[in-house]
Amino acid sequence: MSKLKWWQKSIVYQVYPKSFQDTTGTGVGDIPGVTRHLDYLKSLGTGAIWLTPVYPSPMVDNGYDISDYCGIDPSYGTMEDMETLIAEAKKRDIRIVMDLVFNHSSDQHPWFLESKKDRTNPKADWYIWRDAKPDGSAPTNWRAIFGGSAWTWCEERQQYYLHTFAEAQPDLNWENPEVRKALFDAANFWLDKGVGGFRIDAIVYIKKPEFADGTPDGPDGLVGIHEMTANTPGILDFLHEFRREVFDGHDIFTVGEANGVSPEELPQWVGEDGVFSMLFEFSHLELAYPEGEIWCKRFPWKITQLKQALTASQKATAKEGWYPIFFENHDQNRSMHRYFPEGTDPKTAAKALATILYTLRGTPFVYEGEEIGMTNVAFPHIEDYNDISTHGQYEYALKKGFTPEEALKCVQFQSRDNARTPMQWTCETNAGFTTGKPWLPVHEDFMDCCVEAEAEDGDSVLSYYRRLNRERTTGAAAEILQQGTYEELLPDDERVYVFERSLDDHATYTIVNFTNEPVTYDAGFLKDAKPLLGNCKNPEKGKLRPAEAVVYMD
Ligand code: GLC
Repeated sequence: MSKLKWWQKSIVYQVYPKSFQDTTGTGVGDIPGVTRHLDYLKSLGTGAIWLTPVYPSPMVDNGYDISDYCGIDPSYGTMEDMETLIAEAKKRDIRIVMDLVFNHSSDQHPWFLESKKDRTNPKADWYIWRDAKPDGSAPTNWRAIFGGSAWTWCEERQQYYLHTFAEAQPDLNWENPEVRKALFDAANFWLDKGVGGFRIDAIVYIKKPEFADGTPDGPDGLVGIHEMTANTPGILDFLHEFRREVFDGHDIFTVGEANGVSPEELPQWVGEDGVFSMLFEFSHLELAYPEGEIWCKRFPWKITQLKQALTASQKATAKEGWYPIFFENHDQNRSMHRYFPEGTDPKTAAKALATILYTLRGTPFVYEGEEIGMTNVAFPHIEDYNDISTHGQYEYALKKGFTPEEALKCVQFQSRDNARTPMQWTCETNAGFTTGKPWLPVHEDFMDCCVEAEAEDGDSVLSYYRRLNRERTTGAAAEILQQGTYEELLPDDERVYVFERSLDDHATYTIVNFTNEPVTYDAGFLKDAKPLLGNCKNPEKGKLRPAEAVVYMD
């Protein structure tokens, strides 16, 4: 075991602070709320907490629009609260991982306020400014990820600025060495505070290509910016400088958000010769919504595609490299709805996914609420949604000719707010999240789905997560689960996902029924293996109940 680093042995728990725990009655979660639950997080095996942005922000995109990289937003508390969190976490051997949003800042950041004044100020070149085309239109026909043109006109400068995401999130100009230095200084500021690592947001967009029109892909005459700018050659030079100036020499882990970097390209990005410790790989999330497509257009996907995506990333790290294993984060809907047919028991499905999360090779990333099986919500009106991309997608769906009812239905399923409803702690008012009015409604199922109730119930999703964590860290199969090789079995089976992890003369076999019906499979490979754990009682070799997951060991 000693070969593995600390972040390969523990789990990473993602906290969305706005929705985690309010301690002041404002209806918004805060940093002392995270400190309050450290023992709970430890009980899940957490070695690091990835905190989504807590910096000062106008909150157009809930903190991903930063107006000061070295401060704390007053709604979340103070710098002292942050220092307390880092220190209290350290006492429990938990590190705090900050989210670095360096592709763009807020349009209220002092750097941008200065940059937009005129074309000659000292920060004139800190963002990406271009003249209009001769007819006055935007420099290119790129569509921002949150919808609409990726260029916004600035009266003061008489130029357009580029924003990969919202208008309020102007892209920083990484070509300018002063910009890179300012960003690296900010990251080093947090290392000096004692943080244990970084999640690096939207990093594939920092290098811009030639500014040229693309072939329109929608009724608005625009083309998705991701197609035009992601992973532009030259990006790795910026990232190696980032590594040299910030990461090198520290016992930290880094995980890049890198949509579109394929498993084959992985060695350039992670490990000794790469830049980061790990990379989020999204192909298993994008089955039903291929990159660049709108939420309203659902694609039928097959379980074999999901299996192939997971297998490809496992194979890519077979010799070197390491992946985070994840099904949820603050940008996705709740996973049981995504991967299991409508009507599947959500608790059984949540446990089935957890079984995969903890038995694949890699570091499990658990997103708040996933460990108690929190489910999607469906707010009745578009105005009830807070998420900026939900509104962008709704508008785009209307443009595409959907009726308002149809458009609402699509965003209800896919909205990022599904994952952002307040954490469900107790059976009391507002699930114990706040004594005030929650910023986003609490899911109505909280009496049945909350930490308090599930901690008491040996059959709950929470108890199952705790059990999985014990198996992965101290149980009989711990060494296999952490270090064993991966092999997919029955790859053509359209209903069941089976994989083997093996080390020396022992192996585990994870078997999951992705349908909502009983199925059979050829269990010859199991020979004398014995069940280790599962989400249904008394598993039978060769047979699975709806959404049943079982791990055997020999
Ligand atoms: C990332 C974040 C997402 C945010 C976006 C813009 O994708 O995960 O929440 O909206 O970047 O910063």
